[in-house]
Amino acid sequence: MRGEMLRDLSEQYVAHIEELPEGSSKKFTLIWNGQPLEGFVVNHRGSFYAYVNRCCHIPMPMDWFENQFLSEDGRFIICATHGATYDPATGECVAGPCPGEYLERLPLRVMEGTIFAVCPTLTPP
Ligand code: FES
Repeated sequence: MRGEMLRDLSEQYVAHIEELPEGSSKKFTLIWNGQPLEGFVVNHRGSFYAYVNRCCHIPMPMDWFENQFLSEDGRFIICATHGATYDPATGECVAGPCPGEYLERLPLRVMEGTIFAVCPTLTPP
């Protein structure tokens, strides 16, 4: 129902690891503080990292194409709006309009080939 608080989940299913080969990414939604919070996970060099889908430059989603966050060569996360370029392993902006700022990290838990995102401890959006 509109305006109704959603129930927080302590963790949310994201994907099976086979769905996310190296160099791929996928969006998911957590329910946190009663509100949907969109995040994304990337497979960078065989390791998984997840962040809130909100650019450090202007707080807006970073993907142009559904589930696509990485540069063509897979080395960086790129914001589609003004090209802020982030290190996938740390979330640090390394080029573009907000150098030195960090994406908000979302903890992940991988169990038996399944990736779960864990509710964050960051301040409300
Ligand atoms: S909103 Fe992401 S670079 Fe400007």
